[in-house]
Amino acid sequence: MARILICDDQELMRDSLASLLAREGHTVVAAGDGPQALQRIGAGKVDLLITDLKMPKMTGMELLAEAKKLQPDMPVVLMTAFATVQTAVEAMKLGAYDYIQKPFEGDEIKMLVDRTLEHSRLKTENAALKSAVQDANQPRPLIGMAGGMDQIKQKIELVAKSSVTVLVRGESGTGKEVVARAIHAASERRDRPLLAVNCAALSENLLESELFGHEKGAFTGADKVRRGRFELADGGTLLLDEISEIAPGLQAKLLRVLQESSFERVGSSTTQLVDVRVIATTNRDLEDEVLEGRFRQDLFYRLNVVPIDLPPLRERADDIPELLRHMLHRIARRDQQAFKHIEPEAVRLLQRYPWPGNVRELQNIVERAVILETDPGVIRAETISPWLRLPTQNPVAAAQDLAGKPLADIERQVIISTLERFRGHRVKTATALGIGVRTLGMKLKKWKEDADLVEVGA
Ligand SMILES: Nc1ncnc2c1ncn2[C@@H]1O[C@H](COP(=O)(O)OP(=O)(O)OP(=O)(O)O)[C@@H](O)[C@H]1O
Ligand SMILES: [Mg+2]
Repeated sequence: MARILICDDQELMRDSLASLLAREGHTVVAAGDGPQALQRIGAGKVDLLITDLKMPKMTGMELLAEAKKLQPDMPVVLMTAFATVQTAVEAMKLGAYDYIQKPFEGDEIKMLVDRTLEHSRLKTENAALKSAVQDANQPRPLIGMAGGMDQIKQKIELVAKSSVTVLVRGESGTGKEVVARAIHAASERRDRPLLAVNCAALSENLLESELFGHEKGAFTGADKVRRGRFELADGGTLLLDEISEIAPGLQAKLLRVLQESSFERVGSSTTQLVDVRVIATTNRDLEDEVLEGRFRQDLFYRLNVVPIDLPPLRERADDIPELLRHMLHRIARRDQQAFKHIEPEAVRLLQRYPWPGNVRELQNIVERAVILETDPGVIRAETISPWLRLPTQNPVAAAQDLAGKPLADIERQVIISTLERFRGHRVKTATALGIGVRTLGMKLKKWKEDADLVEVGA
């Protein structure tokens, strides 16, 4: 419940009000005059100040003004035996929340207290919400210079000057979206929308109407005309995330809009012209997808006019200190809390970790550390280290773990882990394992069939 400060020179009034509010579950602090009340406010946060108006030493109005200097957000309720419109107006101007006329009933003050506290809680909540929204809309600066990030920044400035299609490649969490937003923000399209579509999240049909829109009645469930992302992003930028996941049928349509800037809504024969800059991202190797026949070569060339390759975070460990500073500042601003430092040993630990989830994973660890660190000012290495799953560095220990297992199981385990390491890239996996791509494909196919059999049999 709340911490309430009551200020009144009449002891009887003070005590009865205090016991009334204490019965409601509040923590009540009492003061006999203004200076004493200010001292209490200085000593700890007060959620609500209820003060008499006429007091010796300092009037309630003076106390209100001084108290607001100490805690600007603190709601104040004035009690007065001589309520006039004049005093009420003046009190509100000074930032009082409300006033109550003496004598009053217990229920009356209880209701007023509840209302005031609720109002103040909502106000705080709104402020937090607003800062969270502002935070989400802030253009995210692209931090770092290491591992080729400086050249990437130059490239962003250059491509921003034209409307050329950009393909941003990189492992998950390396900042592909940050780069796309930076290009948009640096371009002349910055005042027009930047819209994003995740190609992996929707089925082919849904993605088609998401991108190009549809006419009323184009298919079952299309009960309204819908404008697609290409139309809505006209004059701006469209970010196509995980472009490798787009189905072959749609690849042809996408190629056309890239080449001719024209398309039709699903179910329509009217051709529309749009001016949209496309930025596509992928964390798969598109060349490989082309080789395996899953991705159209002509579309690949059309998208790949300017490629930007983001290095994984483990190749830019020198940027980690600056990234940490940036993240900790952002969190402090967002949560309106003091900046938390991070001890040098913890920074070194983070620089040695291989970051499979890249900058996003680093960000998660930092958020978690800010919440869970018990030391008030500084994030310690011992807090973070249990969260970093460092791979076994001792090959003998690793081999001992495998001893006694069937070779077929070991083979399968190694192949799957290698596939994971290369994010499903079969050519790289096969090369690393020293086997042919076809051999790899056959093994995977067989395991899949075995798995299906088990499922059917179960
Ligand atoms: N260079 C950077 N500077 C500051 N923040 C970064 C940087 N790179 C990435 N981030 C932050 O890391 C998080 C992940 O970045 P982003 O969403 O751009 O990754 P992504 O490559 O698009 O990942 P995915 O492939 O999973 O979609 C974001 O919160 C982003 O703000
Ligand atoms: Mg992304």
